[in-house]
Amino acid sequence: MATLITGASSGLGEGFARALAAEGHDLILTARRSDRLESLATELRAAHGVAVHVLPADLADPAAPARLVSNIAAAGLSVDTLINNAGFGARGSFAEMAIEGQLGQIDVNCRALVALSHALLPGMIARGTGAILNIASTAAFQPGPWMAVYYASKAFVLSFSEALHEEVAANGIRVTALCPGPTRTEFAQVADMGDSELFKRLASDPAAVIRDGLSALKANQAVKISGWMNTIMADSLRFTPRVLARRIAGALQKARG
Ligand SMILES: NC(=O)c1ccc[n+]([C@@H]2O[C@H](COP(=O)([O-])OP(=O)(O)OC[C@H]3O[C@@H](n4cnc5c(N)ncnc54)[C@H](OP(=O)(O)O)[C@@H]3O)[C@@H](O)[C@H]2O)c1
Repeated sequence: MATLITGASSGLGEGFARALAAEGHDLILTARRSDRLESLATELRAAHGVAVHVLPADLADPAAPARLVSNIAAAGLSVDTLINNAGFGARGSFAEMAIEGQLGQIDVNCRALVALSHALLPGMIARGTGAILNIASTAAFQPGPWMAVYYASKAFVLSFSEALHEEVAANGIRVTALCPGPTRTEFAQVADMGDSELFKRLASDPAAVIRDGLSALKANQAVKISGWMNTIMADSLRFTPRVLARRIAGALQKARG
C-alpha cells in the first residue's frame, strides 16, 4: 500500500512526502518536474528505508489522471491514501489573462482531483479502508476578484470534499479538505502575487500546515482550516455580507504585486 501525493516537487506536497516517509509510509510522487521528484525520492529512501516511486505527470492534461492510475497499476502498486495537493493560481484580470491558464487551474485544481478520487475510491471501498486529503484554501470561503478562477476552483474543492466525506464515511474512507491561508511555498511566485515583506511576515510555515492536514485526516475531520488567524477570518465570513467579503478579497488581490 502506498500514499499518492500530487504536486510533490515543491512546497506542501514535498512536505507531505517528507512527513509521511518519516512515519514509514511508501510513497508515489507525481508532478511535472521529474528531476526534483527523483532527488526527493532518493533522499527519502536513504533516510527512512521506504519505497518511493516517481511517476511524473502534467495534470493539466485531461488524459493524465487515467494514465497515472494505469501506470500505478502496471507497477503493481495500490493506493490507500491520496493527497490531492497539486494546484496553482493566476492573479490578474480574468478578461485579459490567457484562457489556457484559466482552464489549466480548473484542470489541475479540480478535474484531476476529481478524476484521481474517482479512479482510486473503488479499491479503497473494496478494502474497507482508505483516505483522501484534498488541499483547498481559505480562498474557498469567498469569491476573489482578480483571482476569480482560483478562488472558484477552491470553493469547488471544499464543496466536493465535504460531500464526498459524507458519501464514503460508511465505507470506512476518510475525506478531509485542508484549507491553508497564505503559506511560504512557491505558490505566490507562480501566481504572480509578489514576494512582498507583508506576505512573508503573515504567511504560515508549511510545516504547521502539513501537521494540521495530516492530523485532521487521521481524525477524519471534514474541513480543517490551518492556523488560528485563518480560522477566525474564515468563521467571520459567515456573518459578513457577501458583497463586503468579495470587495475586501478583491482589494487585497489588486493591491498585491
Ligand atoms: N501557498 C499558499 O499560500 C497556499 C494557500 C492555500 C492553498 N494552497 C494550495 O496548496 C497546494 C500546494 O501548493 P503550494 O503552496 O505547495 O505551491 P507550490 O510550491 O507552487 O507547489 C505546487 C505543486 O503543484 C504542482 N503542479 C502545478 N501545476 C501542475 C501540473 N500542471 N501538473 C502536475 N503538477 C502540477 C507543482 O509541480 P510542478 O510545477 O513540478 O508540476 C508543485 O509540486 C495547491 O493546491 C495550492 O492551491 C496554497
